[in-house]
Amino acid sequence: MGSPLSRRHFLASGLAAAAVWPMLGSVRAARFDRDPFALGVASGTPTPTSIVLWTRLIFADAEPDMADPFSFAPLPQHPPLDVAWEIASDETFALVEQAGIASARQEWAHSVHVEVEGLAPDRWYFYRFRCGDALSPVGRTRTAPAPEAANGRFSLAFAACQQYEQGWYSAYRDMAARDLDLVVHLGDYIYEKSYGAQHVRSHGTGAPSLLFEYRDRYALYKSDPDLQAAHAAFPWLATWDDHEVVDNYGGDASPSDRNRAAFLKRRAAAYQAWYEHMPVPPSAAPNFDALRIYGHHRFGNLVDLTLLDARQYRHPAPGAPQPADPDRYSMLGREQEAWFDRTMQASDAKWSIIGQTTLLSARDLELGPGTRYSDDGWDHYRSGRERLLASMRGAGIANPLVIGGDLHAFYAADVQAADGALVASEFVTGSITSNPPSASALATVMAENPHIKFGEARKHGYCLLHLSSDQARVELMAISDRKDPAATAAKFQEFAVLDGMPGVNRV
Ligand SMILES: [Fe+2]
Repeated sequence: MGSPLSRRHFLASGLAAAAVWPMLGSVRAARFDRDPFALGVASGTPTPTSIVLWTRLIFADAEPDMADPFSFAPLPQHPPLDVAWEIASDETFALVEQAGIASARQEWAHSVHVEVEGLAPDRWYFYRFRCGDALSPVGRTRTAPAPEAANGRFSLAFAACQQYEQGWYSAYRDMAARDLDLVVHLGDYIYEKSYGAQHVRSHGTGAPSLLFEYRDRYALYKSDPDLQAAHAAFPWLATWDDHEVVDNYGGDASPSDRNRAAFLKRRAAAYQAWYEHMPVPPSAAPNFDALRIYGHHRFGNLVDLTLLDARQYRHPAPGAPQPADPDRYSMLGREQEAWFDRTMQASDAKWSIIGQTTLLSARDLELGPGTRYSDDGWDHYRSGRERLLASMRGAGIANPLVIGGDLHAFYAADVQAADGALVASEFVTGSITSNPPSASALATVMAENPHIKFGEARKHGYCLLHLSSDQARVELMAISDRKDPAATAAKFQEFAVLDGMPGVNRV
């Protein structure tokens, strides 16, 4: 955080906008051999009066401290660097609203998280950074409408699962050109491992387990220009799934890390790297043994958005110690469940969006008689799902709408409680790039689960969610070919959910 200089200060001093940045005299006169802003810019966690601005400086000669990779001791060649930031109400920065100086420190991988406060609600802003002689790209962001504002429309995109090697990020190029208020990422932002064949590009390194390795993996993913464009175009909110740490981990256990203490060190490294690369408030640092990322976000009287953490607090899947009583299995942990219940009680917007990582609805994977369920999804935590649905029903929220990812297939479903009651509407986005399930696996899901009204596993892309006072529209967007860097995107299916009538309707 820097020391923000108010707009009034600049106006009172009668300075032209062009004179603002030179005024920030304490910015070190650093010179760079390469663009230190090569990872782009981002913004997130919008409220009616604040926004988080993000960037990370990278250097050609950044080397990990191999002798003690868990120590956060700064390397001598990179002392803290001053990074000037400014936010303006116009793209040319003629109308600078606020400016300040943040410190990019080695211990946070030279990431910068600036929480700008005192902004006006429901407005576009433009922002950029400068360090020495280097200038960042310009980002655009938008504050949330005031909580009681009678906003008639709100549009967001939601996305998940972007294995870097398995395809290009054309979906993000398409997303960046649209007219949206927000992007929500539902997990698997990075992958720790290589999967499948026919890669279009390479991680170049094996699975990370140390802090510098996770940092490098994020830097690789964030070097993608299409992903950068989507970050620069809209504010983001994000939760995580398993691959931000390691495949199929749950809580404090991982199937591939036998030593619990070592795994918790790995998890803390992964959580820190996630923090360092996401536009989340600086208050999230510095405890990465337990990083709270779930939260509630309000956008006028139209949208309550509740974003859940389905990984950090879950009881581990089979193979690890379990509570004796299956009714105690929880994907969210009891504390988050209690918080969710309170959040639902307080939710009174027209649409209550519940963002979690996967499909909330039941999904029988066994063709014919008998049932088989995934160990990694809500079906393994059925009692937790029932408690979640009971919170939604008990609170009497107007229109619960669940969004998720994880399955690398698009789904639209009617969410039913165990007693058969239709409680919510649900949409799962396909992957940005990650390998899909087989056609026969999808056919089984569709044959065995009549409440799942639609499934599509051959396409990659994202979902658009347009909310208005009388309905929600969901557009399923597919790219033409994930292996083609110039792929185009188009809507291939649309659904509507009507106010007061849970259930998905094909348009
Ligand atoms: Fe995934």
